[in-house]
Amino acid sequence: MTDQKFSYDEVPYSSFTFPQTRPDRLATLAAIYGLQPADPENCRVLELGCGDGTNLLSFAYILPDSRFVGIDLAKGHIDRAKAAADELQLSNVEFHCEDVTKVDCQELGKFDFIIAHGLFSWVPEHVRTRILEIYELCLKPEGVGCLSYNVYPGCKTREIVWDMMKFYTAELADPMERVAAGIQFLNFINFAADQESTYRRVIATELCQYSQRTPENIFHDDLSNLNRPFYFREFTGLLEPHGLQYLCEVDAFWNESRLRPEIEAKLDELGDDVLKREQFIDYILGRPFRTSVIVREAASIDRAPSPDILKNFYLASQAEPSAEVRELASNAAVTFKGLDGVEASASHPLAKAAVIELSSQWSNSVKFDDLIRKAADATRLSVDEAEPQAMNELFELFKAGIIYLHRFRPEFPTEASEKPIASRFVRWQLQKKCKDITALSGMNLRPSDDLMRLLLLLCDGTRDWDDLVAEAAARIGFPPEKKEAMLEQLPAVIESRLVEFARLGLLEA
Ligand SMILES: C[S@@+](CC[C@H](N)C(=O)[O-])C[C@H]1O[C@@H](n2cnc3c(N)ncnc32)[C@H](O)[C@@H]1O
Repeated sequence: MTDQKFSYDEVPYSSFTFPQTRPDRLATLAAIYGLQPADPENCRVLELGCGDGTNLLSFAYILPDSRFVGIDLAKGHIDRAKAAADELQLSNVEFHCEDVTKVDCQELGKFDFIIAHGLFSWVPEHVRTRILEIYELCLKPEGVGCLSYNVYPGCKTREIVWDMMKFYTAELADPMERVAAGIQFLNFINFAADQESTYRRVIATELCQYSQRTPENIFHDDLSNLNRPFYFREFTGLLEPHGLQYLCEVDAFWNESRLRPEIEAKLDELGDDVLKREQFIDYILGRPFRTSVIVREAASIDRAPSPDILKNFYLASQAEPSAEVRELASNAAVTFKGLDGVEASASHPLAKAAVIELSSQWSNSVKFDDLIRKAADATRLSVDEAEPQAMNELFELFKAGIIYLHRFRPEFPTEASEKPIASRFVRWQLQKKCKDITALSGMNLRPSDDLMRLLLLLCDGTRDWDDLVAEAAARIGFPPEKKEAMLEQLPAVIESRLVEFARLGLLEA
């Protein structure tokens, strides 16, 4: 429990979905490292400190044959979670209002995946110990856990602003007033400090992220007296007594792929010491937060997965070639650009054709064998020629963040039906005014504009395409001087939006 005067019941936390913690991601990472995780489509998942259940609900919606249990101490959070499960008609998820220190592990049973997001650093030591005990007692032998926590050295600079805000607002009782006053004080210090100083730049950097977060979350996360960051090695030391070990980060490969080659070479000098390597990376990145994947100590991890493992996964990509690919069958190198500016090249025709095929199918994923067959058709090569250079290149593209791997392939239509139906979960998120929505692929995305939000809400299966145009026309506030032209274009705009929704995995029909 927090030591704050105002508990999570008095100031409810705004919860989100965390796709990086979903069963598919955890199973994929475990399988990459040679473990045999449960099938995400048929698994049992526990979330500790689940807040208002938003994260677990998003999983339960996409994985109807899996079962989910959420535990949280705040009654308000659990009441909201239960109401949402009813509203979404989800019978595969249950929520319990309980203190994690009091749960009966025997009664809870065993789980394939256990998650605790945003909990570990914000509870006292005895609660942290109990959290790890729950992983120890409730994780199945091949189970996969996921635990997020604040880390040093990144949090060293965060602590400067946390302390400053706590100092300035110590006398204030109202939580929202404290947040507003705290940020105001930071703005003042940012203004008053030597503008050229490193110190001022640190404060300015920290200040930036406050505009993106809710005051409720700032209150609980940054103004709490219970907020314990760890050095990574300190954290892994806590796992050992509970028979647990570190596997990787939820964004494994991602951070390393961004390091300059000479830095990677330096890290390679550390040899097999994964924990030391991770600690080095925290120092290099100045990482403030980790979401670590943990498994049982007895799990036999293959730390050097070979490109062959690709055969065990579905692949997906939304990367585009940076220039037009004139001749797919040649060995000319092509650079692919993915999300967040990631770039990587491939030259083997099958590897290039595979990425182009994946991109054309986004956000669907494709089983490796089917993908290589399609790439072979496109290049008129034989499937056998996929070995080994194409495999190596595809594996490098995965490590660079150009290709994503999945253990679970959700089914959703690739075209809008006569009376389109947007994901009920997405419509529920939009009604709750969530900034981000969770596609049926499990990925989060931010609606590009009000029209997208409106149209998704209107796609409830009762309206055909003409009705959608008419309804949108009636609801959009067009500027008078442009109204006529915009109304004329509206059917084509709606049609292209529906095509886009299907491509993004937002439609159920
Ligand atoms: C910072 S919020 C995180 C919520 C959500 N997991 C997220 O990341 O958005 C921490 C949550 O843990 C819950 N919590 C704190 N101490 C707890 C305890 N001892 N047992 C169960 N839940 C607890 C709080 O009620 C709150 O919902």
